[in-house]
Order: sequence, then C-alpha cells, then structure tokens
Amino acid sequence: MKFKLAASLASALMLLACNRQPELPLKEVMAKQVQPAAQTYWDAVRYVSDETGDHEIVPKSDADWEKARKAAENLKKYGELLQSDSYAKGRNDDWKQFAQGLVEIAAQAEQAAKDKSVDKVFEVGGTMYSVCSACHTIYPPPVPPSAKPTDSGEAK
Ligand code: HEC
Repeated sequence: MKFKLAASLASALMLLACNRQPELPLKEVMAKQVQPAAQTYWDAVRYVSDETGDHEIVPKSDADWEKARKAAENLKKYGELLQSDSYAKGRNDDWKQFAQGLVEIAAQAEQAAKDKSVDKVFEVGGTMYSVCSACHTIYPPPVPPSAKPTDSGEAK
C-alpha cells in the first residue's frame, strides 16, 4: 500500500515536472514551428516562371511585410530554444553554434523585412537556407527536409 502511494506520488510529480516545462520533441519543433516560419519568410519574396513569363512575388502591404518580419522574429526564438538544455544537452558544441547561426540570420531577416527591402529579404532567405542545411548536414534528419526557398538564386 505504502509502496503504491509512493509510486503514484512519484508519477504525479513527474507529470507536474513535465507540465511545468512543456516541450515538443525536436522533430515537432522543426516540422511545426521552424519549417512553417521559414516557409512564410521564403514565400514573401520569390520568383516564379510560367507560360506568361517571369513573375516577381513581393510583399504588397504593410501586413505582408509584417508577416515576414514576424516569421523571422519567431525563427530567432526557435534558434534560442534550440540552444536550451532540452535540445542541446548531450550534443557537441557545434550544435549551439548552428542554432546561434539561426538566431543571427533570423535577426538579419527581421531587419530586412523591417526595411522592406525586397532584395535583402530574398538574399537573406537564401543564406538562411544554408544555415538550416549546415546543421542538417552534421545532424541529418531521418528524412531529408524537402522545403527550401522557392527558386533561390534563380533568374531574377
Ligand atoms: C541546430 C541544428 C538545426 C538547425 C539550425 C535546423 N535544423 Fe531542422 N532539423 C535538425 C535535426 C537534428 C532534425 C531531425 C529531427 C528528428 O527527426 O529527430 C531536423 C529536422 C528538420 C525537418 C524534418 C522534420 C520532420 O518532420 O521529420 C525539417 C522540415 C527541418 N528540420 C527544417 C529546418 C529549417 C527550415 C531550418 C532553418 C530555418 C532548420 N531545420 C534548422 C536540426 C536543425
């Protein structure tokens, strides 16, 4: 009886501990937070070609720019989150460097959106992709992420 009580107390405490610090598995952070934010940013400025020619897609309103800026701000937070113990523990130092790289490029990305610079958003978006890829090269996801900036580096 006593043992049972202790055991259930222990599991209740464990639950509490988990609830206090809710955290997603890395895979989910990537798939549900990092990836969608990066995609929003990459989609803000892109170049598409179809039968009617080449088209430049750029933010048209303050709200469009704000959407890109917000996505970059979130990426900055995710880069910081990745450096927390929950995600960095047990990994080599380079993990935090890669994550910090994301913080830094996201800060540039946010500035570019604040400046409403089409060229800069495009350029920084491409660099951001290299930052993601650098970490994935050393810490490869089981399934290689397919998403990337649309037409990055292509005819402009
Ligand atoms: C600090 C290292 C690091 C950085 C930076 C990083 N990733 Fe990842 N990413 C990983 C690791 C590790 C996995 C594998 C997670 C797993 O499956 O356990 C992953 C997995 C993914 C996945 C696959 C998720 C799934 O459903 O399997 C996507 C998509 C992804 N990352 C996108 C990105 C994008 C976009 C960026 C840049 C904006 C980025 N990542 C930056 C380490 C990183």
